[in-house]
Amino acid sequence: MSETLLVADGSKREKYEMLLPQVEALLRAETDAVANMANVAAAVMETFHFLWVGFYRVSGEQLVLGPFQGPLACTRIRHGRGVCGTSWAEDRTVVVPDVEQFPGHIACSSASRSEIVVPVRKDGRVVAVLDVDSAELATFDDVDARYLEQLCRLMAYVL
Ligand code: SME
Repeated sequence: MSETLLVADGSKREKYEMLLPQVEALLRAETDAVANMANVAAAVMETFHFLWVGFYRVSGEQLVLGPFQGPLACTRIRHGRGVCGTSWAEDRTVVVPDVEQFPGHIACSSASRSEIVVPVRKDGRVVAVLDVDSAELATFDDVDARYLEQLCRLMAYVL
């Protein structure tokens, strides 16, 4: 597997269409969970240049920071807290167009303006979340939700 990521020039849909098969190939070539989360965070970042892309893993009653790309982040988030803890507790993708309007949002970086969090499920349980932050308002929509959910379904095999 080549370590060079190909990034489409066009719409975000086209970027995701090019990203997903490359993520699938990366995950097929490696079984280590940390290595895979690290490369997937890097691949999403290299494709879109978001502010922050990374994983939090479920550990008991908390989410614990995993591999990520971007500024330093909070290391632990309680069940039901913030956008990440809400996604975990409610077992659903949470799209936040304006983080200031989300009650309980945890501001790891003051530069973050919008956010999407997608649960990674394994055997019917949430085992991690993928968190993506943007420095712009309203960056994420149903297109991001659909493709990032697809990406998180692939992650389930390696976590
Ligand atoms: N904003 C998140 C915390 C994680 S950082 O964005 C990396 C939240 O409210 O859960």
